[in-house]
Amino acid sequence: DTEKQQYIQQIKQLLKDKDAVLVAHYYTDPEIQALAEETGGFVGDSLEMARFGNQHPATTLIICGVRFMGESAKILTPEKHVLMPTLDAECSLDLGCPIDAFSEFCDAHPDHTVVVYANTSAAVKARADWVVTSSIALEIVEHLDSEDKKIIWGPDRHLGSYIQKKTGAEMLLWQGECIVHDEFSAKALRDMKHLYPDAAILVHPESPASVVALADAVGSTSQLIKAAKELPNQKLIVATDKGIFFKMQQMVPEKELVEAPTAGAGATCRSCAHCPWMAMNGLKAIYTALNDGGEQHEIFVDESLREKSLIPLNRMLDFAA
Ligand code: 13P
Ligand code: SF4
Repeated sequence: DTEKQQYIQQIKQLLKDKDAVLVAHYYTDPEIQALAEETGGFVGDSLEMARFGNQHPATTLIICGVRFMGESAKILTPEKHVLMPTLDAECSLDLGCPIDAFSEFCDAHPDHTVVVYANTSAAVKARADWVVTSSIALEIVEHLDSEDKKIIWGPDRHLGSYIQKKTGAEMLLWQGECIVHDEFSAKALRDMKHLYPDAAILVHPESPASVVALADAVGSTSQLIKAAKELPNQKLIVATDKGIFFKMQQMVPEKELVEAPTAGAGATCRSCAHCPWMAMNGLKAIYTALNDGGEQHEIFVDESLREKSLIPLNRMLDFAA
């Protein structure tokens, strides 16, 4: 519609005027992902977003996603302005892992290496030895296990138990979860697979173990898009936030993508496979962030926390390089 078109034109101009670039996650609205790509920005998984923001020369980053993504960008590039369409875009994993309780958990097991998911606050990252994202977690834990390290894992219990099973590493798990992926239902997915026996099942590892067990491919958002291309199946059942369908469908226009069922499919699902915080990113909010800048939209990280959290974040980026 014309209002959206106006915002898009204004955002394009402001990106140039302010030497800014859009960095978006696959779970944001299609129009945001399209605009990011069209304007020389980027769409990717959380590891790729961190890497892109870190390497791009723009002096302002507009991080379209959730708060931890903006914080990671600020930790990595403190000299840049890091803006977000809204600072209220949280994540249930981050919210479910407050620093005081997590720190106590770590203190109770001082002989353990602390590995935290990127979906955490800067304070939790600062308490960690390693930061990981879903695309690199398996390799990093394999590496730590090969050195006989005992691991504290936080906050996603589903991703943690998946990695524990795959690696056999000794891991103590924080009991957090993503409200989007936790809702996928193994029973409903089995029923769907009976309907479509030739379909392949793609699952993000933040989903429950019973759902992961049914998967033909498990991985981060980028890895799932890659799997969609590589698998021979014409029909794909996808268990992750439905925002991914925009990019995935572009990559496999000839294939049919089907949403995996959530436990409360129909009237009662809570997130209904779309993250309510990712959904807060809109064109108007991007326009306002670029136009006003300032307190409403800018991410700041306390300097001592930043220095501490940079160490495990850089460890991940160096490992992944
Ligand atoms: P990835 O894009 O790294 O797979 O992360 C998924 C996620 O939950 C981000 O909110
Ligand atoms: Fe957090 Fe889940 Fe939303 Fe990702 S999809 S931001 S993990 S609540």
